[in-house]
Amino acid sequence: MTLRRILTVDADMAVLKQVSTPVETVDDDLRVLMDDMLETMYAAPGIGLAAIQIGVAKRVIVMDLAKTDEPPAPRYFINPEILWASEDTGPWEEGCLSVPDIYEDVDRPLEVRLRYLDYNGNLVEEDADELYAVCIQHEMDHLNGVLFIDHLSRLKRERAVSKVKKAARADA
Ligand code: NI
Repeated sequence: MTLRRILTVDADMAVLKQVSTPVETVDDDLRVLMDDMLETMYAAPGIGLAAIQIGVAKRVIVMDLAKTDEPPAPRYFINPEILWASEDTGPWEEGCLSVPDIYEDVDRPLEVRLRYLDYNGNLVEEDADELYAVCIQHEMDHLNGVLFIDHLSRLKRERAVSKVKKAARADA
């Protein structure tokens, strides 16, 4: 497995805005990509990562929502779709490895029904709520070139991006 560089909004906005394309075949090459993504996500550390965040415009997501005292529980989503979303929405504080150190409330449906292919290419349908629902919607946004800060007011979004740019300059 290989650690990959996570793209961030200060330098890589144009790539992060790309719409990712569906996966046609779930094969070993794709599993290598998913293994790399998971390792990169764990190292960050983060709880979800979309392929475009390492510069690969494919509709692939990895996630692990296990708490620190629980064993790892990696999840893999290929070509995910939302079949149904609840009318009830609620705010949840979100962050993103591509927008480091920025945390803001985003309103989203609290429950969704999902369809996706798993690590082995099997078709899965399941319901998600709470953190799982929030996280999968956040990650699926990435597949469409949408960042969580795009759900904020223009002022808050611009402030977030300039904070990340400033921090990147300070690190350089
Ligand atoms: Ni994100």
